[in-house]
Amino acid sequence: MKVVVLGAAGGIGQALGLLLKTDLPAGTELALYDIAPVTPGVAADLSHIPTPVSVKGFSGEDPSPALVNADVVLISAGMARKPGMDRSDLFNINAGIVENLVSSCAVNCPKALIGIITNPVNTTVAIAAEVLKKKGVYDPLRLFGVTTLDVIRSSTFVAEIYDRNPKEISVPVIGGHSGITILPLLSQSGFKFSVEDAAAMTKRIQNAGTEVVEAKAGGGSATLSMGQAAAKFGLSLVRALNGEKDVIECTYVEGSGELARFFAQPVLLGKNGVEKILSYGSLSEFEQATLNDALETLKSDIKIGEEFIN
Ligand code: NAD
Ligand code: LMR
Repeated sequence: MKVVVLGAAGGIGQALGLLLKTDLPAGTELALYDIAPVTPGVAADLSHIPTPVSVKGFSGEDPSPALVNADVVLISAGMARKPGMDRSDLFNINAGIVENLVSSCAVNCPKALIGIITNPVNTTVAIAAEVLKKKGVYDPLRLFGVTTLDVIRSSTFVAEIYDRNPKEISVPVIGGHSGITILPLLSQSGFKFSVEDAAAMTKRIQNAGTEVVEAKAGGGSATLSMGQAAAKFGLSLVRALNGEKDVIECTYVEGSGELARFFAQPVLLGKNGVEKILSYGSLSEFEQATLNDALETLKSDIKIGEEFIN
């Protein structure tokens, strides 16, 4: 099994690399790539941690050497927000980065499962799909937008107000990964929320990225919590590839297109990536109304990505 992180010298990349080095199954190869010249050093640093996972670092313009024979590729390369920016403001820089990196995946590891972390996720996943399609290797079962951070935040914030262990709380989050497209299904959390409380908690979860961006005051966006979220998601992909059953994650994938071409919802993972897109169940009136409001934004975010490539 070979797992690759692209953007590995960044805030997310380093946290993710650390967690993968400590938690990947024995015998896994971990390849770290970033344009930053420090990347082989990051790999050397991680390689001193005593786990049976080998680590190699690659830098420079060409990601190919890192990507050859990859089974899982997690992409966090690109710019992060500063206060006052929306995720969509990252499009101009990050669209081209994702395009180039995914083109290289198409050539070097066309069968890999690819998880896109780089923002704006609603759009960069559409870019990735169109790049893979142009290269003739697109398989919707193998491309994922990583929305796990919204899921872990939901558990944490709900646990906080009910004074519970967040590990025991699970809240599906559907839709996309920005602003109103982030829709936590609090009605499925096991706790009763009034409409006002659901609205307030939904807003908190939707604004959680901005909360970190403002608190870091120009120093970037969520990196440590995202590193944990990306590791959780990446390890789930690896477990599913290794044949483990019942591995489920909420993730942004291309499904039936009933609501939007890409949509985040619970997905059963398997040896080929998406095994089955699961129903997200019934929504409260508040959730249904929020979803209706979000769809136009989500579809427009997706269209921007499609048009960028085509
Ligand atoms: P960062 O600036 O700390 O790191 C980004 C890294 O990408 C840098 O090391 C940089 O050298 C590298 N990079 C830039 N261009 C590259 C290229 N062409 N090839 C390889 N590497 C390249 O940023 P970060 O905090 O790690 O955030 C990375 C991205 O993840 C941002 O777009 C951010 O918005 C996004 N993000 C997504 C989520 C999510 O939930 N999906 C959460 C947090 C952040
Ligand atoms: C997040 O949700 O923290 C990330 O998408 C980063 C950001 O810009 O908010």
